[in-house]
Amino acid sequence: MTAITEASKVFVAGHRGLVGGAIVRHLRNHGHQKVVTRTRAKLDLRRQAETEAFFNAEKPDAVVLAAGKVGGIHANDTYPAEFSYDNLAIQTNVIEAAYRNGVSRFIFLGSSCIYPRECPQPIREEYLLSSPLEPTNDAYAIAKIAGLKQCASYRRQYGWDAVSLMPTNLYGPGDNFHPEHSHVIPGMLQRFHAAKLAGAERVGIWGSGQPRREFLYVDDLATAVAHVLQAPELPHDIYNVGTGTDLPIADLAALLLKVIGHEVPIDLDPSKPDGTPRKLLDIGRIKALGWAPQVDLEEGLARTYAWFLEHEDELRAK
Ligand SMILES: NC(=O)c1ccc[n+]([C@@H]2O[C@H](COP(=O)([O-])OP(=O)(O)OC[C@H]3O[C@@H](n4cnc5c(N)ncnc54)[C@H](OP(=O)(O)O)[C@@H]3O)[C@@H](O)[C@H]2O)c1
Repeated sequence: MTAITEASKVFVAGHRGLVGGAIVRHLRNHGHQKVVTRTRAKLDLRRQAETEAFFNAEKPDAVVLAAGKVGGIHANDTYPAEFSYDNLAIQTNVIEAAYRNGVSRFIFLGSSCIYPRECPQPIREEYLLSSPLEPTNDAYAIAKIAGLKQCASYRRQYGWDAVSLMPTNLYGPGDNFHPEHSHVIPGMLQRFHAAKLAGAERVGIWGSGQPRREFLYVDDLATAVAHVLQAPELPHDIYNVGTGTDLPIADLAALLLKVIGHEVPIDLDPSKPDGTPRKLLDIGRIKALGWAPQVDLEEGLARTYAWFLEHEDELRAK
């Protein structure tokens, strides 16, 4: 096991994304001088020769793989081919090139949404592949599970120090606020903000409002990544990363309205699908490594809303 120090060279793949952006910010703010990044235009990680040439030249000590094709239910359901091909190609190339070029610690980003559809709650790491997947995102889930297994296989065969993190639903600065392709928090945030500007006296949300979900502020994920990079020993292949607490979607909506400063009644629409009743991670493994989240939901939403207001014009232009 080779833990990474502030002097190590760390390649963060996907640094312009929600996750990669937070990780780079955190590492740079905590003394890491050698954080390497590449835009997709400079280095398309789906291209094997380009990826190998990059690793040959840069020889990073550690890699955090936060590049990939990511999206909500609608995007997953509409573009399963890209979700499958892009993720499989990126991770296959990056994991192999990193191993061959002497990377000493490798972190792969999985996701809580690749656990089986009907998982017992809270979800433990060993429930992976224990029953059928959610069909709307199975192309993405199967690609990601292949990445997890690739890391676990190199770890088993070569003793390579590669682990996978399974974050719960993330939110925060740098999120995707696309009207159709965003996740629940950025989607609601921009709709409620528009309702405030329009002076709307009510807002609506899909479903019964009862399903319970867990949300992690993305800077807390970044502290988890830094913690795992620096951990002296990593006894497991996979670590869940979440808060260990959840709340009903209707309560999330009410909290967002409070943060936005537009506390109006919420209309539920029970004719729309609810999805799974509960999704909560068991975070016992990563807590045993000494990590815990720091930012509570109201504080995280307030920081996210402040970021959204600062970047509203450029987000609208995207
Ligand atoms: N967001 C969540 O709630 C969540 C939850 C759990 C797990 N995760 C995991 O975290 C990881 C990152 O997610 P995210 O939300 O940060 O995604 P994101 O905001 O969409 O960012 C993805 C990044 O990957 C880069 N990328 C995509 N294709 C590439 C390619 N062919 N070559 C090089 N770079 C490429 C993108 O570059 P461009 O900027 O150039 O497009 C972008 O920087 C994913 O593996 C995801 O499964 C996310």
